[in-house]
Amino acid sequence: MVKVKRFSSMDDLYSHAVATIVEAKNNGATTFGLATGGTMEPLYAKICKTDIDFSHCISFNLDEYVGLEATHQQSYAYYMNKHLFNQKPFLASYLPDGLAVDPLVETARYEGLLQQYPLDFQLLGIGQNGHIGFNEPGTSFASLTHLVTLEESTRQANARFFSSIDEVPTQAYTMGIQSIMRAKCILLLAVGEAKREVLERLLASDYTEDVPATALSKHPNVMVLTDLQEEENKL
Ligand code: F6R
Repeated sequence: MVKVKRFSSMDDLYSHAVATIVEAKNNGATTFGLATGGTMEPLYAKICKTDIDFSHCISFNLDEYVGLEATHQQSYAYYMNKHLFNQKPFLASYLPDGLAVDPLVETARYEGLLQQYPLDFQLLGIGQNGHIGFNEPGTSFASLTHLVTLEESTRQANARFFSSIDEVPTQAYTMGIQSIMRAKCILLLAVGEAKREVLERLLASDYTEDVPATALSKHPNVMVLTDLQEEENKL
């Protein structure tokens, strides 16, 4: 059962997210799954203003574009350095290698690391089509780290970060749904009107591979934070 907390102030929402991470750390969490995207930027900015110390912790990012070097400004490695790691270094930080020569070797390497260091805490955003990580609709709930071809709608949603849609990579590596579900505790942030429809699907406890995030309805410890209020007079 997915729990939800609704906020009327973005500042309160992000403060609560920071407090949740601090609490997890205080309870012994040392391995953190991290996400990128617009939703996470204010969270990382807030974390950087605190005295949280991740220097004994390990991080794993959910995903990375194929074909972008870590120094490319739109790679997720670059994003993480810029928004978090430069100010808050971890003992070790892992991301899939977007330049890996052999996708099968790379996905096995990453999944192996995840199994070696089980995730205590996973941070998630959500796509309008229900994706988590880059697990697009139709992805098996049994999936492990794998190579994906991005949906056109996902490329368009992410085109805002590139100078044109043609520059948005067509493939990415992502943790699978099963890799994400193994995390002990999951915090999902659903921010902005564009996420309303998919949030309702998630909270309705649907369980369908057509909406990847609905896998979470079977996870014992998921909290969703949102700025979206319940719609009144819903028919
Ligand atoms: C990014 C990721 C994606 C995003 C999702 C929402 O690492 O895993 O699933 O969380 O696409 O992106 P924003 O926050 O930009 O709306």
